[in-house]
Amino acid sequence: MFFTRRLTSFVLTLLIACWSVSARPLWFTRALLPRASTLNVATCTDPATQLVEHDCNVALLGLGGGIAGAIEFLRVNNSTTSATSGTCTVTATAVDGGTTIDISKGRLEGHGSTNGGFDNLLTACGPSPGSMVIGGGAKPTGNIQIAISAA
Ligand SMILES: *[C@@H]1O[C@H](CO)[C@@H](O)[C@H](O)[C@H]1NC(C)=O
Ligand SMILES: *[C@@H]1O[C@H](CO)[C@@H](O)[C@H](O)[C@H]1NC(C)=O
Repeated sequence: MFFTRRLTSFVLTLLIACWSVSARPLWFTRALLPRASTLNVATCTDPATQLVEHDCNVALLGLGGGIAGAIEFLRVNNSTTSATSGTCTVTATAVDGGTTIDISKGRLEGHGSTNGGFDNLLTACGPSPGSMVIGGGAKPTGNIQIAISAA
């Protein structure tokens, strides 16, 4: 009897604990990781304008003072940064609540990733103007929009 009551109250406590644990992340996730933008979807804004792909690749690596070679992160204390090479300007912008940029080069390029990335944008639009949102990579929270435009 006593044991049963203790067991019942234990189960109740467990239920309440589970409820609050499972209830919190929903709220928590939405507050901390807004996913307002659709990821990995290219918007090609001007297919008639063909840029030089190599210029866009060089511009990408020029972001934030340069992320070529062994540098593995693009970290910029600003909501937006851009770089130009020849015909092409590449811009990274923190969106969906982001105020600064902190993204790994691998994620930024995102080759073949369903999370989006510069390479996927190039594949979708060619070296022509457009943009795409990459999941994550912004602080304190949010995503990164990568854009290609004519210089
Ligand atoms: C980042 O920029 C803000 C102003 O936009 C400045 O107040 C702050 O000191 C900067 N932080 C660093 C680490 O440079
Ligand atoms: C942040 O970027 C904007 C747009 O490029 C620029 O006007 C501004 O000066 C930058 N702020 C800082 C603190 O570098």
